Amino acid sequence: MSLKETAIYKVQRYFIRPEAKIKDKISVAILGDLHISPIVSEKQNYEIYKRLVKIEPELIILQGDILDSPTEFFDESSVKKLKDTLNMCSRIAPTLMVLGGHDFIIPTEPAATMDVIPLWEEVCKECKVELLMDEWYETKDLRIFGFFQDKDFCIQANGELRDNPEVMEKKLAELKLDPDTDKINWFVSHSPALTRKAKHHLAHFDLLTFGHTHGGCVPIGLDAVMDKLNLHGGLVSPDKKPFPKAVRGAKQISDETSMIINSGLIATHYSAKKPLQYLNTLKRGEITEIVFEPAEL
Ligand SMILES: [Fe+2]
Ligand SMILES: [Fe+2]
Repeated sequence: MSLKETAIYKVQRYFIRPEAKIKDKISVAILGDLHISPIVSEKQNYEIYKRLVKIEPELIILQGDILDSPTEFFDESSVKKLKDTLNMCSRIAPTLMVLGGHDFIIPTEPAATMDVIPLWEEVCKECKVELLMDEWYETKDLRIFGFFQDKDFCIQANGELRDNPEVMEKKLAELKLDPDTDKINWFVSHSPALTRKAKHHLAHFDLLTFGHTHGGCVPIGLDAVMDKLNLHGGLVSPDKKPFPKAVRGAKQISDETSMIINSGLIATHYSAKKPLQYLNTLKRGEITEIVFEPAEL
């Protein structure tokens, strides 16, 4: 299937009922990995819009890799698509955003970062999107920290963007992320690699959410069969390992902390080595809906 065609998306919903921390129900929509470029369909936003208005979220979070490359800032049609996407989200609900590696590192050129952060700040301001770069955002009973995986965090290995766990460990230690025990402390970032080597810094968070994994185009019926077989994650993980259950969807990583990984909205070959690259597409692209509800009395 060509990327010019619209991928098949679904809404994946999770309910969270934390003890005593939620007074009123809150619904949040998460989406990411749009990888906007000239080959992404113009129809994508309409497909996203239809699902977002149905969710009626009180908050939308964009989890990074919104552009395929920072060079897209210099392509008129990509900038238009980017602004359309951001405006669409912020008109539906207050919208937060974190950056992914593809948003500021040129994926095809080793170690090529572009100084596009001022451009991101400008476009987010124009489109009324809150860009979180190592900052907290509070609304109702939610306290959200948007982590910036800066250029030292992402390294090039074998011609692809990978994460540098040592840098991330040091940075998290320096950030001193103080919890507020009366609220839901929520950590938002792009790549789930954080949870492998720096989990201890995130121990007081109630919820961690990430993107970075890529869903794809697959017939609706086949996707339902995959879900029934408990293969929600598709067949190949973004780390090129064939153990999908660990890398997408929801997972309890300790008594206190849940993790939810969104599958992203683009069919891609980025996630698996040849000849397995298309197996990753046995997974629909998704918008994740997280519903926080008061615990039942
Ligand atoms: Fe991505
Ligand atoms: Fe990514």
